[in-house]
Parts: sequence; C-alpha cells; structure tokens
Amino acid sequence: MIVIKIGGSVVDGLHQTALADFKSLSDKGKLVFVHGGGKEVTNTANKMGKEQKFVVSPGGVRSRYTDKETAEIYTMVMSGKINKVIVGMLVRNGVRAVGLTGIDGATMKAERKKKLIVINDKGRKMAIDGGYTGKISSVDPSLINTMLDSGYVPVISPIALSEEFDFLNVDGDRAAAYVASALKADKVVFITNVNGLILNNKLVDRMTVEQARDALPKIGFGMEKKVLACTEAIDMGVNEAIIASGQVENPVSSAIAHNNCTVITK
Ligand SMILES: Nc1ncnc2c1ncn2[C@@H]1O[C@H](COP(=O)(O)OP(=O)(O)OP(=O)(O)O)[C@@H](O)[C@H]1O
Ligand SMILES: [Mg+2]
Repeated sequence: MIVIKIGGSVVDGLHQTALADFKSLSDKGKLVFVHGGGKEVTNTANKMGKEQKFVVSPGGVRSRYTDKETAEIYTMVMSGKINKVIVGMLVRNGVRAVGLTGIDGATMKAERKKKLIVINDKGRKMAIDGGYTGKISSVDPSLINTMLDSGYVPVISPIALSEEFDFLNVDGDRAAAYVASALKADKVVFITNVNGLILNNKLVDRMTVEQARDALPKIGFGMEKKVLACTEAIDMGVNEAIIASGQVENPVSSAIAHNNCTVITK
C-alpha cells in the first residue's frame, strides 16, 4: 500500500503521464491520496475579502492562522473544490476515486490547539489563541480500508474532527504521514513541484530520519513541513518517505525507483 500526498502546488501542473501512472499503480496495489492546497485557500479567501494570516513556530514551521471564518473557507476550498478536481481527474482516467475528509466516518481526529507559541515580528516568542487548527491525534483506518477492499481509491482532504466535533485545519503533509502510519503503508510519497529537498544547492537523494531532523532548521517554508512529516511517518513505522516532483514522467513510479528525488528512511 502506498499513500500519495499530492501537493496543491502541483495539482494543475502534473506531468501528462501522471494520471496514467496513478492508474497503473492503482491496478497493481492499494493507493490512497491525501492532498494539500494552501495557496488555493489563500487565493479564494482573498477573493472573499478575508485576508489570511500566517504564523511561524519557534521551530521554524509556518502555518495558517485559522479563525472561524477561515476554517469555513478552508473546508469549502479543500473539500469542495480541490478534492473534487483531483477526484475528477482520477475518475476521468479510469481510477475509481472517492473524495472524503477526515470528518467523514470520523476518520481523522485532532486535538485543538488551545494556544500557539509563535515568533513575533521582533523575534520574540508569544502565545496566541490556537484558533481552528489541530494536531492529529488518531486516524481510524476502517472507512479507508472498506473503500480499498471494494476497489475504490480514497482521496482525503486534510480536515479533522476535534473532541468537540469542530472542523480543524490540519496540515496535508502531516495528515499523509498519519494516514500512512494508520494504514501500515510501506511508503508515503510526497508529490510536489520540486524534485525533493535541496540543501547547499544540491538535491539530497537519501537521508536518515536523524539527518532529516537535524536539517529542519535549515529548510525553507513549504519543504520544512514535508521533511517534518517524513520524520513523523518513519517514526510511526512507515518504511520509506519520499519527496518527489509531479512534473516528471511517471512521477510516482519514478519516485519509488528512487530517481531524482529525496528518500528518507530509518
Ligand atoms: N530546501 C528546500 N528544498 C526544496 N524546496 C524548498 C526548500 N525550502 C523551501 N522550499 C519550497 O518548498 C516548496 C514546496 O512546498 P509547498 O508547500 O509550496 O508545496 P506542496 O506541499 O506540494 O503544496 P501544498 O502545501 O499546497 O500541499 C517548493 O516549491 C520550494 O519553493
Ligand atoms: Mg505544502
């Protein structure tokens, strides 16, 4: 079983062979997709006159500040728009894709963050209200497995349920790591708009989870979360986490063959 995180960054720019690649992999084994789409959420929010704010943690991880209105826009764009675009692309190419969020079947639960520690403009730490963001606490694989056993390919939006049944914005990369672990997947493949992690102007082709953790402070926004998610996936028992481009021929097959990508293992 392979979990594929498909970046919002690459949904519109996938290589022309990508969908045939997804189809042939789904004919050979079980596939689950988790997607992102932060930029699209930001664009739609801007069109609606709702300016988006981002905060940075002391560890250098950036995230959207999600108040109630933003949480609603996030849910609409992620599950109403991006999820359907991906499901539509897959269905058109003969994959029996079905879209869902972590809310459906209570598949993904998260703990609402009461307070967020962020770094302010002056570089000082401060605590702000957590809003509608969450840290994933559990993934119940039963609905996903039911779908897979019936030959469907789940496509999951990164929205989770809080203990109080609020809808929480969770990060797509980390959602993919948790889904992969809950499903006991062999691999999690992060398909994005660059070949992988670049350090000192070079593509890192292989690294251990310790090396990845050490590198985190040196990694820019976007990739930092992906590498963090890779370390979480490996720590939670997934054998291999791969970051690869969706803009190359047969992107997932190529990633699994370790061509021109970043492979993180224990
Ligand atoms: N050291 C780095 N190596 C490679 N890419 C980096 C690095 N630092 C920052 N990046 C940026 O990370 C981006 C990928 O992350 P980004 O979040 O934009 O895409 P995504 O995760 O595929 O999409 P989404 O967040 O919508 O799911 C790259 O396009 C690149 O600009
Ligand atoms: Mg991202």
